[in-house]
Amino acid sequence: MAVPAIKPTGRERGFDANEIIVSKTDLKGRITYANDVFLRMSSYAEVDLIGKPHNIIRHPDMPACVFKLLWDTISAGREIFAYVLNLARDGDAYWAHAHVTPTYDGAGALIGYHSNRRTPDPGAVAKIKPIYAALLAEERKHENKKEGIAAGQWKLNAMLADAGQTYDELVWSL
Ligand SMILES: Cc1cc2nc3c(=O)[nH]c(=O)nc-3n(C[C@H](O)[C@H](O)[C@H](O)COP(=O)(O)O)c2cc1C
Repeated sequence: MAVPAIKPTGRERGFDANEIIVSKTDLKGRITYANDVFLRMSSYAEVDLIGKPHNIIRHPDMPACVFKLLWDTISAGREIFAYVLNLARDGDAYWAHAHVTPTYDGAGALIGYHSNRRTPDPGAVAKIKPIYAALLAEERKHENKKEGIAAGQWKLNAMLADAGQTYDELVWSL
């Protein structure tokens, strides 16, 4: 059964600097663990999250090309730092500064992923918002989703090339 889309309220909420929102996933991005801060911020009960795809908290204002970069990076076994806007079950939004890492078993096989999120600096959020808005606008020019993501990726890469930065460097420079 299709899950009805959650309507964003336009309200944003925050969390404390000494808190970390934690989740773990399997290789497909299905949630295997969420800590109490995750549950509180997302307004979901644990039972509603475990086994669900992580896009359950995807906010429609997030450009898809950022998630493409995230997946390309972590599935290649590398870590990424990213600013992510999430959508809680009640429609409120929250920004997070995420550190997403691959998880390996004792034999060195990639077995899943782990994300730790801290509350971002408000100044950094103010700077990333117009960048993400520009990427989203680029993606929305295309009816075809794949073409939209490719155009967003192209724009992001052009912005980064102009600034002489990688995405991680951009994240840390804000
Ligand atoms: C460990 C991990 C953490 C993630 N955290 C988030 C998150 O906080 N918010 C989010 O929207 N997507 C997160 N994602 C990415 C989602 O899997 C998904 O790619 C994204 O929500 C975009 O959804 P879509 O691919 O269906 O368009 C995470 C993925 C992994 C592997």
